[in-house]
Amino acid sequence: MYQQIVVLTGAGISAESGLRTFRDQDGLWEEHHIEDVATPEGYERDVELVERFYNSRWQQLHSGTVEPNAAHLALARLEAEFTGQLLIITQNVDDLHERAGSRRLLHMHGELSKGRCPRSRQTFILRDPFGPKNCCTCCIPAQRLRPHIVWFGEMPLGMDRIHDALDHCDLFIAIGTSGTVYPAAGFVDAANHHGAQTVEVNMIPPDRHCQFQYHLTGKAGELVPQLVNTILAGRVIS
Ligand code: APR
Repeated sequence: MYQQIVVLTGAGISAESGLRTFRDQDGLWEEHHIEDVATPEGYERDVELVERFYNSRWQQLHSGTVEPNAAHLALARLEAEFTGQLLIITQNVDDLHERAGSRRLLHMHGELSKGRCPRSRQTFILRDPFGPKNCCTCCIPAQRLRPHIVWFGEMPLGMDRIHDALDHCDLFIAIGTSGTVYPAAGFVDAANHHGAQTVEVNMIPPDRHCQFQYHLTGKAGELVPQLVNTILAGRVIS
């Protein structure tokens, strides 16, 4: 029976909810240049372009057509029924884990539903799309809110808590991530180093560099509920 579980999720867990991933066919990075919409320099160069990129994703998320899928719901059930410690680290900026019921959750790349004051770094729940009128209420003069997103070149959030969780977990599961962006891509090494069992759930089979001890190939919406059933039944993944 596992005592401490860490789960890392990526864009692939939200794909079956209708949200685009980044590097799959028709991914977001096929249509946008990272340096234009996901770096501080890009934001400095063209605020409106970056705002349009995040506003369109924010509006889709709040359109009523995007719901948590079976994988999100299974992780929320794991949190509710697992008697050990669980932490979900998500690279995703959507709120589907929260809407599925997860609370032991850490958004290491920020959250689409929030804006951040560039001066005080205070965050605000977004009521309106980003724009010149959407300003903080903490400064005089009020500052135009920026997306509360960790851009390339910026420090991910919650790293102390993440390292502590990885140092002590006995099961590390990565779901729907390409493992191409650090530091998240290195979490499996830390988990392996500390003797945890490491499992990957992904649509595509592992490549020869795969560091996971187990790889489950298929859709997260189908495999994650089965994985959660195994864990809650007290069985070891094998
Ligand atoms: N079930 C399981 N896996 C899936 C599914 C699915 N239904 N659909 C896609 N995948 C897998 C793909 O095979 C791919 O490996 O999800 C992964 C998505 O990879 P990326 O698009 O690279 O997304 P992610 O790994 O989350 O990107 C990490 O990069 O651009 C930055 O900040 C951004 O947080 C993001 C980070």
